[in-house]
Amino acid sequence: MSSDVLDRNLIMDAVRVCEAAAIAAWKLAGRGDEKAADQAAVDAMRTALNDLEIDGEIVIGEGERDEAPMLYIGEKVGKGGKSKIDIALDPLEGTTLTAKAMANALAVMAWAPKGTLLNAPDTYMDKIACGPGYPAGVIDLDKSPAENVQALAKAKGVDPGEITVCILDRPRHAEIIAGVRSVGARVHLITDGDVAGVINTTDPETGVDLYVGSGGAPEGVLACAALKCVGGQFQGRLVFRNADERARAARVGITDLDKKYDLHEMVRADAIFAATGVTKGALLDGVGVSGGFVHTHSLVMNSATRTVREVRMKRPA
Ligand code: FBP
Repeated sequence: MSSDVLDRNLIMDAVRVCEAAAIAAWKLAGRGDEKAADQAAVDAMRTALNDLEIDGEIVIGEGERDEAPMLYIGEKVGKGGKSKIDIALDPLEGTTLTAKAMANALAVMAWAPKGTLLNAPDTYMDKIACGPGYPAGVIDLDKSPAENVQALAKAKGVDPGEITVCILDRPRHAEIIAGVRSVGARVHLITDGDVAGVINTTDPETGVDLYVGSGGAPEGVLACAALKCVGGQFQGRLVFRNADERARAARVGITDLDKKYDLHEMVRADAIFAATGVTKGALLDGVGVSGGFVHTHSLVMNSATRTVREVRMKRPA
């Protein structure tokens, strides 16, 4: 479904929102306080959103209303306007990365016409993703990591030893890591930040071919919005560890708990994706201050036009 809801003029608005969150979070980078950095990003993103002439509703945000006072699921943002949009956001993707001033923290957001983003509950999701240019179905969440590496290597025309797989460094991923290495592929471990992990599969310069593993379901929707713009494949399945998590799914209208979602079921219409680097990473430079100016590096993409822009902003600090 293509859309005229997402006026292309919204592109720069989306960038400004992410810039504001990134700058606010960066001021607290390296201070060891995850909550303070996250709160600063949330405040700044919310203020920036409420300054826009949009009729927005948060579908992926900081949590359910009773646990997140700001940018909670269902919160309306914006001054109102003709654009009725679903908003998925993570004002600070990589709270620990920021608190420790480590690479790859982002402020990230996706917009799509109302009713077209998966209302993912705050649970884990098993994910697999690869970049564009491969035949449909080359990767499959129901196949083993080794089989997926082999299929991707065959499609790429290389030996499995030339495939690099990005995986979150967690004990729960021990089997996946062993499976990938069993066929000779290289494992690129990340400590946090699987939105960037998935997006990196779309950029040959990162050297990452495949992303596998479980991470936040909300982050899955954000990553899918990016893939919707640049191409690539993604499959995800929600993971429920207890009754509370199943209840979270029920509250956002999910009835088929075992469903395997593909990219276009997670983001069902054209979307705008924006991200600003908080700390320097493979995808984006971080916020910096020099010569009395603060500068940022952002990425903004529009799936309707398949446009990808890199935006560098500089203003007096
Ligand atoms: P936060 O910014 O909320 O800390 O999330 C970072 C992150 O690494 C995500 O990118 C990822 O989806 C999730 O946490 C993984 O969760 P866990 O740390 O529980 O494995």
